[in-house]
Amino acid sequence: MSFAELMSKSKSRIILALDLTGPSLLDRALKILDEVYPYVSAVKVNRHLSVPLNIEELSKLVHAIHDRGLLAIMDCKINDVGSTNKVMAELFFHAGFDALTASPFTGWKEGLEPVFNLAKDNSRGILVLVYMSHEGASENYERLVLDRSSISYKRMYEIFAEKALLWRADGAIVGATRPRILAEVKRLLKGKIPIYSPGIIVQGGSIEVSLKAGADYLIVGRAIVEAPNPSQVAANLNRLVEETLARLRGG
Ligand code: XMP
Repeated sequence: MSFAELMSKSKSRIILALDLTGPSLLDRALKILDEVYPYVSAVKVNRHLSVPLNIEELSKLVHAIHDRGLLAIMDCKINDVGSTNKVMAELFFHAGFDALTASPFTGWKEGLEPVFNLAKDNSRGILVLVYMSHEGASENYERLVLDRSSISYKRMYEIFAEKALLWRADGAIVGATRPRILAEVKRLLKGKIPIYSPGIIVQGGSIEVSLKAGADYLIVGRAIVEAPNPSQVAANLNRLVEETLARLRGG
């Protein structure tokens, strides 16, 4: 089964961004995982853990994520030459990660192609950034550029949405902080690729607005991991997601 199919079968639309800092990272990550796993579909790991932990420790964390019935995503934003990208992807896939994030600025030939091929051969996923969640993302993701294939001016994120379709990405990442663009990318993707939306709560994105605009999965980090009671917050957010989806379905 592909990564996208596995995600579509999961019981929650929330992805936990397990972004911790400080001492005893692995132990604290495993503790939060134990508290939160019933309310999320996947766990996303970022530099917070991938820099200080070694590959064996990351692999141990991935096993714990899988043991609780969740998928593991490495937010490594692949952005180098193909041979280096492939080495990184092999290491993370070998550690057990089910999907990796990639930057489309890298391009295809000798860039992301080897990584997509590796992912397909191993039934893993690649999620492509289409528009990031932070304020400065507009400087480049919204830039008006001449698209060589259609000889027309397009916004960078429109081209990246088209690339995500062309490359058959398993997901497109669009920040929850810009619902209008989220809705536009949803139309461009024609329902063929799910949208993963980071930037919920702490960065200002709203669960209700993002789901209405077309987000399929919501990535939540600090709002859960920095809460005094992560499990309670995750349960409340999951309930809000379910209520919002029921309302949108007219239920
Ligand atoms: P917070 O604490 O803001 O964490 O809920 C969000 C997590 O998602 C990452 N992030 C992004 N990842 N594209 C990405 O691939 C984005 O536009 C984006 N915005 C935030 C962030 O690094 C953190 O791990």
